[in-house]
Amino acid sequence: MTPKIVFDNVTRRFDLKGGSFLALDRFSLDVADGEFVTVVGPSGCGKSTALNIAAGLLKASGGEVTVDGKPVEGPGPERGMIFQQYALFPWLSVRDNVEFGLRIKGEPPARRREIAERFIDLVGLGQFADALPKTLSGGMKQRCAIARAYAVDPVILLMDEPFGALDALTRVQLQDQLLETWSRERRTVMFITHDVDEAVYLANRVVVMAAGPGRLQEIIEVDLPYPRTEEIRLSPEFTAIRNRVWHAVYHQQPAQSHG
Ligand SMILES: Nc1ncnc2c1ncn2[C@@H]1O[C@H](COP(=O)(O)OP(=O)(O)O)[C@@H](O)[C@H]1O
Ligand SMILES: [Mg+2]
Repeated sequence: MTPKIVFDNVTRRFDLKGGSFLALDRFSLDVADGEFVTVVGPSGCGKSTALNIAAGLLKASGGEVTVDGKPVEGPGPERGMIFQQYALFPWLSVRDNVEFGLRIKGEPPARRREIAERFIDLVGLGQFADALPKTLSGGMKQRCAIARAYAVDPVILLMDEPFGALDALTRVQLQDQLLETWSRERRTVMFITHDVDEAVYLANRVVVMAAGPGRLQEIIEVDLPYPRTEEIRLSPEFTAIRNRVWHAVYHQQPAQSHG
C-alpha cells in the first residue's frame, strides 16, 4: 500500500545575511494511511519546518513531500493544519470561526451551521458559540481552532504543538478527545510536541529529530494497544517506551559535519 504522506529527502535552507542556514537536512519519512505519528526533538530541530512543507506553506529547497503520490505544491483542503498559536479571526464569533472553512468548502448555510454546532459541542464550547475570541481563555481559543480544523473534515491533520499552551487537565482531555475521533474516523495525523509523554501516549510511532542541522534521529514504535487509557499511561510498558524516547531526545550525538 502506498503511504499517505512521503517526505523524500526534504531539505530546507533559509537565506541569511552572508550565507544560508540549513534548517532541515534530507528528512525522509513515510506516514501510512490512518497512522498517528508524533514528532519530538529539541527546539530548532526543524519540526515546524517539516510540517509546514507538508502543509504547503513553505517550499522545500531540495527533495519533496508527496500526499497520495502527488507532490505538495500548496495548501489543500485534505490537509488541515492546527498551529500552536490559535489562529482565529478576532472579529468572528466562535461559530463563525468554525464555519469559516466550511464556507470556503462551499457547504450551504444550514449544513454549515449543523456541522459547526457538532464540533463546537465536541470541544465543549457549546455555551460560547456567539463569543468573540478575545473573551475566551487560551485553552478555549485553542479548542475553537481545533473545532474549526476538524469541521472541514480533512483526511490529514497536521498539528504543530497544538496543546502546548494549555493547562495539564485541558491537555489530557483534548488528547483523549483527539484519540477518540481518530479511532473512529482514522484520519492520518502528524502531530508535533515537545512533551515526550504526550508523544508516546498518542502515537503509533514517535519520530525523534535532532538539531544542528535539523534531521531525523530515530523512529520509535509504540507497541501499545488503543484505546489508550490511564492504566496504559501508568504501565511499565509505557514507561519503558517513554524512557527510550526521552533518551533519544536528550542524549543526542552531535551531527557528523558535512559541507
Ligand atoms: N523563516 C526563517 N528564516 C530563518 N531561519 C528560520 C526560519 N524559520 C525557521 N528558521 C530556523 O530554522 C530552524 C528550525 O526551525 P523550526 O522548524 O521552527 O524548529 P522547531 O519547530 O523544531 O523548533 C531554527 O533554527 C529556526 O531558527
Ligand atoms: Mg516549532
